[in-house]
Amino acid sequence: MKKVAVIGAGHVGATTVQRLAELNIADVVMVDIVEGLPQGKALDLLHAAPLMGYDINVLGTNNYADIIDSDIVVVTAGIARKPGIDRDDLLATNIKITLQVFAEIERYAPDAIIMTVTNPLDIITYSALRSTQFDRNKVFGMGGLLDSSRFASFIAREINCSVKDVRAMVLGGHGDSMVPLPDHSSVAGIPLSKLMDEESIERVVNRTINAGAEIVGYMKNGSAFYAPSAAIVAMIEAILNDTKRIITASVFLNGEYGLHDICLGVPVVFGKDGVEKIIELELSSQEMEALQRSANKVREGIAKIST
Ligand code: APR
Repeated sequence: MKKVAVIGAGHVGATTVQRLAELNIADVVMVDIVEGLPQGKALDLLHAAPLMGYDINVLGTNNYADIIDSDIVVVTAGIARKPGIDRDDLLATNIKITLQVFAEIERYAPDAIIMTVTNPLDIITYSALRSTQFDRNKVFGMGGLLDSSRFASFIAREINCSVKDVRAMVLGGHGDSMVPLPDHSSVAGIPLSKLMDEESIERVVNRTINAGAEIVGYMKNGSAFYAPSAAIVAMIEAILNDTKRIITASVFLNGEYGLHDICLGVPVVFGKDGVEKIIELELSSQEMEALQRSANKVREGIAKIST
């Protein structure tokens, strides 16, 4: 049985563990700093096993030693957004928390693949690579798949079609500077521009960019977790089953898209080795400029953690 560790037993972490259990795909260890929280949630999930028909093991713990031999470690530990607080405001607190978490992962699961989820995503992913000896194919951030799924969901609702037929792509930083790509999005192979007028596309693009904030605005005291956990699990499945799916993720760029020494969302082939290939799309000059603007925004955050 494969083993997945999830750090943080809050909304995103616990929902991820539930989805993993229901897929019956790996044994799961859930770690949190709060005593009793992961233990209680793990027990509750085990009680659901006879009803849901899964037979994987779920362990809740406060002890990082339990993540030993994990194939993948998902990092959701940290604070989430509230109204008026954007992802970058989370930086100071979450960088401290995740630096400790990365050190523990390096100590107990040095061969694992690390998926970061804690925001600000691209900066936290960069810090994971800079603060550890993990190879760049083994560290990436979950952001673009969530943004792409939100984009796809809005497109399907706009044109009243099945979400199953929508292919949507969002690149760039996982934040306000993200770059939805209507020209690389389609419905059953039909380009978006044939199905939606420019104004509707722009409306859907803007709603995608603000989707996280829209949810925080409703929820007040927390941020999204159903779609984030669904995206996390889709990426775990691609790695554990070595499917070679092409998924946008925040990865370290070393010249790709003309960018160096930064983590940013780009399309990637996922397989058993993690990030197996970075795909360089041919972007229009407008799209490339938007990607560069997004990179500049992420660099501002990286500068804050380097000083
Ligand atoms: N080690 C382990 N767990 C920790 C640590 C730590 N050092 N510090 C905090 N945590 C735990 C908290 O105790 C809490 O249970 O992280 C959990 C975070 O859960 P929530 O507050 O429910 O936040 P959540 O909605 O899950 O979001 C977590 O993911 O999507 C991002 O922006 C979001 O950065 C946020 C993260």
